Amino acid sequence: MSMMERVLELPDQLRWGLDLEPQTSKPASSVLLVGMGGSGMAARVGKLVADSGRVQTAVYQGYGLPAWVAESKPHVIAVSHSGNTEETLSSVERATDLGLPLSVVAAGGRLGDIAADVGAPFIEVPGGMMPRAALGYQSAAVLRLLEGAGAIADPRPALEEAADIVSVLLGSGDGAGFRLGADLAEGLAGRIAVIYAPAGVGSLAASRWKAQINENAKMPAYANEMPELNHNEIEGWGTLRELTQRAIATVFLTDPAAHERVRLRMRLTVDLLDGMLPSAGSVVAQGRSSLARLFSLIAVGDVASVVLAEQAGIDPTPIPVLEAFKQKLAGP
Ligand code: F6R
Repeated sequence: MSMMERVLELPDQLRWGLDLEPQTSKPASSVLLVGMGGSGMAARVGKLVADSGRVQTAVYQGYGLPAWVAESKPHVIAVSHSGNTEETLSSVERATDLGLPLSVVAAGGRLGDIAADVGAPFIEVPGGMMPRAALGYQSAAVLRLLEGAGAIADPRPALEEAADIVSVLLGSGDGAGFRLGADLAEGLAGRIAVIYAPAGVGSLAASRWKAQINENAKMPAYANEMPELNHNEIEGWGTLRELTQRAIATVFLTDPAAHERVRLRMRLTVDLLDGMLPSAGSVVAQGRSSLARLFSLIAVGDVASVVLAEQAGIDPTPIPVLEAFKQKLAGP
């Protein structure tokens, strides 16, 4: 399947989560999600949804685990599509050393074996695709594990809402969201993308936009969130104007459910940057649940990243630099 076919498959991936068997584990008093790259994005989706609940949830992306886990003993949810990512395996090793409750999302690999060895709840996602192309499967699996640990309510209504909205947006490559993604790609062509969004749903979507442009289009992209960027980044756009006007294009992701002051900040930031930085355009989140609003923004960005690649004659699927780097790290 091509990368664009994977993008169009997103609603089906989210719906796949509806039929998963319940994976009940001991109710968690806190949850720590671990995962890198595309899989780390699914971990962050889990935190975003859990943040509206009562169980404290954090994401950790690195080796080992933070020191505080020895005291608070969170339920660790590890996400790795390949099941072989060294940072995630290192976190899982630490979790098992400390005897922390563990759940796993993977398409197999070493992580799948560990889950079987220690009898951890394990959701096996379909394999045979790039990790970033499996975000719908991974996110749905993470949410069902969070539900099983008592950290969130039944996520199926939100999964259905997200799938329905994305399905309308994308159509079969002819929906309004698909066309918007293609238009935004036109505005971003040959430029460095700077994606601005409100904290929360918007900024998580902006990170996905950034990573998808990096990995699919093999182009630089940066993301930042409001209100934080109003405390530093906007001061930096005035001086190198000739360079930035030539090299950059902005995309604004907006969320009607964001804090009213953040929405005002967004409008003021758009006005401030008008005439200073070229803008490719904006995307407005749709839906009631945070999950639906998130995926409504992600779907448009996924399209834009693949169209950007296609326009530049780049194959969106392989990631030769990341692979070569991993091999260097593994040593001779
Ligand atoms: C590749 C991709 C990467 C991987 C990351 C971690 O498509 O998106 O960012 O997700 O290198 O690998 P996994 O997901 O196998 O743990």
